[in-house]
Amino acid sequence: MTDRYAVVGNPIAHSRSPAIHARFAAQTGQDLRYEALLAPLDGFEAVVRDFAAAGGCGLNVTVPFKERAFALADRRSPRAQAAGAANTLIFASCEVLADNTDGVGLVRDLTARHGLALAGASVLLLGAGGAASGVIEPLLAAGVRELRILNRTAERAQALAARFADPRLSGAGFEGLTDAARQGAVLINATSAGLAGEAPPVPAAVFEASCFAYDMVYGAQPTAFLRAAAAAGCPAMADGLGMLVEQAAESFRLWRGVMPDTEPVYRALREAIGRP
Ligand code: ATR
Repeated sequence: MTDRYAVVGNPIAHSRSPAIHARFAAQTGQDLRYEALLAPLDGFEAVVRDFAAAGGCGLNVTVPFKERAFALADRRSPRAQAAGAANTLIFASCEVLADNTDGVGLVRDLTARHGLALAGASVLLLGAGGAASGVIEPLLAAGVRELRILNRTAERAQALAARFADPRLSGAGFEGLTDAARQGAVLINATSAGLAGEAPPVPAAVFEASCFAYDMVYGAQPTAFLRAAAAAGCPAMADGLGMLVEQAAESFRLWRGVMPDTEPVYRALREAIGRP
């Protein structure tokens, strides 16, 4: 019987996950169906329950339900616990297991696709919401030398840094950006500002000193953050399309026990969104 998977979110119509997983399944010869499910804001848990009861094998979870996916699980992986959120649910013998593949997806995209060495790197992480909290533990595990969380609301950055109790981690408001320039730093935008066509107020000197600017958001056009990075002379940059494909591959591996080859899928998606 064909195994069933889906991505749940609100909104969900824009999701590229069904196309990505269909390609992974074809490539690895796995017999599965993967669809997109719109959950009402007050009905996420019911959608998950019904999908599992109908024989579904697993779910990806996206905005705004990742914290609720974490909360409803019976068991949680260490990396989901570190994030306080889950993007992957596995239905296994009457139990719901929660995992989070976002962080490992980001780290693989940065290291394997974009060739960055994170061990010993200085990382500036912009934002302190769900997207930021999901990537902190994997960045620390990758051996970064320092990880500075900078956020519009300083208290959120400080509270997030305090959760991990790691001396490499600190949190501050955007005013901390004025002295945040680090030669060769990796600058990661995990704010949702790009969704509104905006960018965090990064001074040109910070972009200039950084070796790489990364925006977790992606689209047909470069985001406002990446446009600012280019204008300030940041030497290299990328959007979050690769992270999307890598987190999907890690979910696929958890469900199916086989790791797909992400590069052809990434290339096909890049072509589909209209930017080579
Ligand atoms: P997500 O799950 O996408 O991270 P979230 O948890 O609502 O969503 O967090 C959004 C993040 O983007 C926060 O860090 C937010 O800053 P605040 O904590 O100050 O709200 C940040 N953000 C959203 N819009 C922004 C903007 N226009 N400029 C800068 N930061 C912004």
